[in-house]
Amino acid sequence: SKRKITVIPGDGIGPSIIESAIQILTHAGCDFDYDYADAGLVALEKHGELLPQATLDLIEKNKVSLKGPLTTPVGGGFTSINVSLRKKFNLYANVRPVISFKGTRSRYDNIDIITVRENTEGMYSGAGQKRSDDNNSAEAMSIITRDGAERIVTFAFELARQEGRKKVTIIHKANILKSTSGLFLEVAREVAARYPDIQNEEMIVDAACMNLVMYPERFDVMVTTNLFGDILSDLCAGLVGGLGMAPGANIGEGAAIFEAVHGSAPDIAGKNIANPTSVILASIQMLEYLGMQDKAERIREAVRSTIESGDRVTRDLGGSASTSEFTQAIIDRL
Ligand code: NAI
Ligand code: MG
Repeated sequence: SKRKITVIPGDGIGPSIIESAIQILTHAGCDFDYDYADAGLVALEKHGELLPQATLDLIEKNKVSLKGPLTTPVGGGFTSINVSLRKKFNLYANVRPVISFKGTRSRYDNIDIITVRENTEGMYSGAGQKRSDDNNSAEAMSIITRDGAERIVTFAFELARQEGRKKVTIIHKANILKSTSGLFLEVAREVAARYPDIQNEEMIVDAACMNLVMYPERFDVMVTTNLFGDILSDLCAGLVGGLGMAPGANIGEGAAIFEAVHGSAPDIAGKNIANPTSVILASIQMLEYLGMQDKAERIREAVRSTIESGDRVTRDLGGSASTSEFTQAIIDRL
């Protein structure tokens, strides 16, 4: 029987960029069955909940999901749906690759960096959040566990090995955050020692920011804690032409959710002008996860040659094509 994928179109530009990715998968000959599920504002309006149980059940059942961006309403005390999903399915690894395509607004053309971000702990643990009664102080807990650090760093080194990468950079702030980042670095060193075939280096997060902007070609795989990974991966998106070019995979033991790094872009929703590349690249990550490397490569090359040719590309890439015209240009190249 066909492989089933849970598809969550999401909010804002989500449905249109997801549609674009599905069309491309179909034209590349990927024969999946898609189970559509609602989450986000659209689910709140239809079912009275941001994250309905039926959606959670489908994510659980099919194990692999392709997801559009979700709008978490501000105010009303809603917790981020993305954070909930990552916690619920223990999607501990957030893998965010960026590669240069010529023809984007990037200043570089030689970038190929994967950020491996710990996705469940650190500053985003959600624990111990409080304000004082007089509202003059606030606190929150950053949590690093030995197990959590070990599994994410191991994940990064295994990924490096699988993908034939040369180096893993461990990014931290152990000089100041001695307890949390200190434990992360200590465990990372232990893990790195088990991979003599892969170079490792350590870098303090602020220095990493400077080096990424000045010498991005020196980076290969980076592994880091939750908050640093969130920030560094957006920096990396900026190195390759912006959020429209940045995919991410949330991977756990039992499930994986593939998505764009950007949000629902309410400012351009419904105008058929969004760049679908991030979600298309996320679907390529999904194919690689499923062991379908040939199809993944075929789609990547079609996307690359479309963007590099410079005609029929979306506005953020300097063109004037709509989402659907750009999608058709990729399909024509397949
Ligand atoms: P955003 O990423 O949606 O938009 C930032 C800017 O980038 C906007 O000007 C937008 O038009 C542009 N942009 C984003 N994606 C684009 C694309 N594919 N093509 C062309 N331009 C694109 O961030 P913002 O506005 O801060 O957040 C909007 C909503 O998205 C919020 O409700 C937020 O909670 C949600 N969000 C959801 C995420 C997810 O589901 N993974 C991640 C980040 C934000
Ligand atoms: Mg972010």
